[in-house]
Amino acid sequence: MSAVLRPRDRTLATPYFPVGGPVPAADLVGREAYLRRLIERLEDGQHVLISGPRRIGKTSIIVEALRRIRRHGGHTAYVDCLGATDIRGLGERLADAILMNLSGVERSFEQAKAIAAGMQPTVKVKYEHVELALQLARETNAQRFFEGALDLPQGLAKRTGKRVVVVLDEFQAAGRLGPRIFDVMRARFQAHRGVSYAFLGSEQGILEELFSAKGHAFYRFAVPLDLTDAGGHRFGIDPDDWLEYLRSKFAAKKMTIDDASIDRLLDATGGHPQDTMQVCAALYYLMRDAAARSVTSDFLEVAYEQAMRELERPFALHWTELGSHKYLQQVAKRIAHRAVLYAADAEGGAVPRPEVLRALAALQERGLVVRLGRGRYDFVEPMFGEYVRRLDESLVGAARVSTR
Ligand SMILES: Nc1ncnc2c1ncn2[C@@H]1O[C@H](COP(=O)(O)OP(=O)(O)O)[C@@H](O)[C@H]1O
Ligand SMILES: [Mg+2]
Repeated sequence: MSAVLRPRDRTLATPYFPVGGPVPAADLVGREAYLRRLIERLEDGQHVLISGPRRIGKTSIIVEALRRIRRHGGHTAYVDCLGATDIRGLGERLADAILMNLSGVERSFEQAKAIAAGMQPTVKVKYEHVELALQLARETNAQRFFEGALDLPQGLAKRTGKRVVVVLDEFQAAGRLGPRIFDVMRARFQAHRGVSYAFLGSEQGILEELFSAKGHAFYRFAVPLDLTDAGGHRFGIDPDDWLEYLRSKFAAKKMTIDDASIDRLLDATGGHPQDTMQVCAALYYLMRDAAARSVTSDFLEVAYEQAMRELERPFALHWTELGSHKYLQQVAKRIAHRAVLYAADAEGGAVPRPEVLRALAALQERGLVVRLGRGRYDFVEPMFGEYVRRLDESLVGAARVSTR
């Protein structure tokens, strides 16, 4: 689950404001209420669905939830479906994650295969650690192997009498591994007792269809726990929680950030979790290098520009994805520039009205755009909106943190 870090990478991998990948519990801002609800459900045996755009903290939340569930004595397994290239690979990942509860060691399924092939158990991985998967380790047929792996969580629950919580992250990606894979999964999962499943994913359109359209494989299988609007806050995080976190995080380094700067910061990022952390990381290192003690609007502006450059990769990815559909980029640009959306022949050429409507729906479904009112739309993530605006300008635009 966690990458093994070489010591020399450590400062790079965990900056003072962690960015990219699951954050430590101490840096998980504003998720306490959500976490409690989530854990309660899973420990009650319910299956949950957490869908939402990338970089809003889905993985961070579930990783912390699993930590707490283990502390309560439960077993857990975390599998990222994006990493697998075929059903055998996905099955092996699940097997590794399940066996880790018994062996305490990552990649134990390799050991299971070795032992199944007649090798002696090692000091670290003993026979009883992998016994559960020995039969599976001998299976050569890919389909049967996959189905056998899907039943391992149930095997673990039966063997230990403990609840098992299985997370399938970026679940929609599993659909690419083969036909009817979701039907196969559902058929196994729904027969399991003592196992709760959490499905996470960033392609909301696919997930919504899979879980809430009649006739689809996971129809009504899991309870959706809305994250993007939890508690009525943008991205589900109360601005007061940001305030408290940022104050104490800077204070721990003998730096101060005043309320006005925090407001400006959250205005500029819209409170988007990763964008906010990215600006904060840049801000902190800027101030440290300058031996500065308090945040000023100048520091904030420079930090914003730096974060903007660092976010270019994910933003370019979003943008390229929009390019795969006709008119999406064009309509996105109109929103970014606050142009008339339905103009028959605005900049970029004509877009028929029904296509504009379709594009707006698609942008909303992707979690990139929200409707503010009649004919008024905006980007969910202000910094992405700014990125889109700048695509047409020279990239060395002026700093955009408002200095009101
Ligand atoms: N609750 C949070 N508090 C602070 N930062 C967060 C929070 N959630 C996400 N982040 C930031 O966003 C980044 C991506 O989080 P991650 O959990 O990987 O999101 P997702 O799984 O939705 O793509 C983290 O590395 C961190 O910088
Ligand atoms: Mg994630």
